[in-house]
Amino acid sequence: MRHDHLITARQLSRADIETVLDRAAEFDADPAAYGDRHPGALLGLLFFEPSTRTKMSFETAMKRLGGDVVDMGSVESSSVKKGESLADTVRVIEGYADALVLRHPRQGAAKLTGEYVDVPLLNAGDGAGHHPTQTLLDLYTIRENAGLDDLTIGIMGDLKYGRTVHSLAHALTNFDAHQHFISPESLQIPRSVRYDLHESGAMVREHTDLTDILPELDVLYVTRIQRERFPDENEYHAVAGEYQIDAETLEAASDDLTVMHPLPRVDEIAADVDDTDHAKYFEQAHNGVPVRMALLDLLLGDSE
Ligand code: NCD
Repeated sequence: MRHDHLITARQLSRADIETVLDRAAEFDADPAAYGDRHPGALLGLLFFEPSTRTKMSFETAMKRLGGDVVDMGSVESSSVKKGESLADTVRVIEGYADALVLRHPRQGAAKLTGEYVDVPLLNAGDGAGHHPTQTLLDLYTIRENAGLDDLTIGIMGDLKYGRTVHSLAHALTNFDAHQHFISPESLQIPRSVRYDLHESGAMVREHTDLTDILPELDVLYVTRIQRERFPDENEYHAVAGEYQIDAETLEAASDDLTVMHPLPRVDEIAADVDDTDHAKYFEQAHNGVPVRMALLDLLLGDSE
């Protein structure tokens, strides 16, 4: 790959994406067989926001490759609590690790931090900005289930604050996908993202209702309303509970529809969808390990 830091999905060409996904498929076939790939390599984890899947799958991936992690731990237990700046924290931790993973509540934090560090920095979510490593596992899941060619995808929920959506929509422009954005008007895709998509020649349509478009979709990517990013709790309550799907909703969909969600879900996908053949969100979460193994393997270089 051309870039050492991975900050946004816009950095990723189709060839970059295919390189990662192909390598991920090799790891996926037998994840336990690569323990001698990067012995002694250390990955620094800096999570300034809650995380389960992203953090644990990075940790699993690094350990599967024979390496280990050094973890800043929670903000509460670190020197951040004493008022240390982000720039100082990362400059110290880069001396402990071969690559860094950063999640931060402030949009733009990863880009800024990248200017201070020489080891590869992976953006694991910057506020309502981007989440490119999630996108790679999303694309892997789409490729496995629906294929990336001639794709019609619906992306539903919080398109304003949902960073996974911003990154996925950008990456899909590499594949000429037809993208349908489904959200309440107050949570439409931000103007800056819409502009960039337009510049990239994205084929995008916006809807407030899933019903009309559902039968045409190959993939429905559902997202959580990002409650923690609403400046006003009343605004959250005005849209909470909208845009939910259940097994009955999906009766109008194609039999082959793949339903995805970056997780965690709150109430957007009813539990009865879990038992249908559409549900791929747990498989999607599991794909985080081989995809992050592939990404780390490419960033850390060939040790064979
Ligand atoms: C997402 C995130 O953190 O942006 N979670 C994840 O990484 N799988 C989605 C979310 O929190 O809603």
